[in-house]
Amino acid sequence: MGLDLLLLPGDGIGPEVIDQLRPLLQATPDLEIAEADFGGIAIDRHGSPLPASTLERAQQSKAVLLGAVGAPRYDELPARERPEQGLLGLRAGLGAYANLRPAMSFAELAGASSLKAEVVAGLDILLVRELTGGIYFGTPRGFEGEGEERAGFNTMKYTAREVRRVAKVAFEAAQRRDKKLCSVDKANVLEVSMLWRETVTAMASDYPDVELRHLYVDNAAMQLVANPKQFDVMVTGNIFGDILSDLAAELVGSIGMLPSAAVGEGPGIFEPVHGSAPDIAGEDRANPCAAFLSLALACEHSLQRPQLAEAIRASVQDVLAEGMRTADIAAAGESSVGCAEMGSAIVARCQKMLK
Ligand code: IPM
Ligand code: MG
Repeated sequence: MGLDLLLLPGDGIGPEVIDQLRPLLQATPDLEIAEADFGGIAIDRHGSPLPASTLERAQQSKAVLLGAVGAPRYDELPARERPEQGLLGLRAGLGAYANLRPAMSFAELAGASSLKAEVVAGLDILLVRELTGGIYFGTPRGFEGEGEERAGFNTMKYTAREVRRVAKVAFEAAQRRDKKLCSVDKANVLEVSMLWRETVTAMASDYPDVELRHLYVDNAAMQLVANPKQFDVMVTGNIFGDILSDLAAELVGSIGMLPSAAVGEGPGIFEPVHGSAPDIAGEDRANPCAAFLSLALACEHSLQRPQLAEAIRASVQDVLAEGMRTADIAAAGESSVGCAEMGSAIVARCQKMLK
């Protein structure tokens, strides 16, 4: 016990972005850190993407900071043995049922989006994705039959309790923000969504200050592209949230900037949204900002270190304001720096602020 932060660097650009945080973590007094294998690297070393020892350490920590998992060379493995399975196991094993995925535009990076600047300027959406249920975890699942009749199948199922606990997180987040909540489902077709909508609707009277509305997921996808600034907080199930959160991240054109948090019953899991980006892994081209901002979320939500969180955010803001860019956020013709240079610039500013 007593472990504050478990680092799971993982695969692809995960280790290099996590490396950038180390000088800051090491200089933070009374912060107990450990590190464990997770994802593809854990398959190589232990034969499983989530070794029992890694899950155990995670359960004993206050927070888990993840780099990224997955690489093309594991694509041939059966679905149940792939690095992604470790991620699902970690979420379930920590009871991290509510995934907070903010998509906010950074003023300095206006123009990074593929949408018109006026459509996305000042955008600030919080997508709350249910993370330990729905079709990702429902049973029965599997394959059956032979030949042309061979079928693959999954089960999309939510209990009222599962809907209520994630909706509670979303309603409360809306109360702290612009007090607008949009619940996304497919209640015109799916029973699981009818129950979702019914349950969320029944909770609305407990949050009279929050304006609740519902959208079908197809319409929500269209509205996100057409007029994203109409949204404040969105809440949705696991698979719809997976899809819409990628869409929302790309709206601001800087997926390398976005952190995420998965919270619930146990330690929170904090993770950059960007994934393992195998095409640039090991080339010092990754953007470490999302990793720093994920650490800031961990400091705030799980480690009770609001000052450090604030310093990290301000430092990221500062380096952007000074014009420092990694390749992914540099405009055409703008020069860029590598992952390590960006990382040390952020750390240097942060340490100065904390002095
Ligand atoms: C994500 C990812 C994962 C998910 C994969 C890697 C299992 O796409 O975190 O959004 O689908 O949850
Ligand atoms: Mg995804």
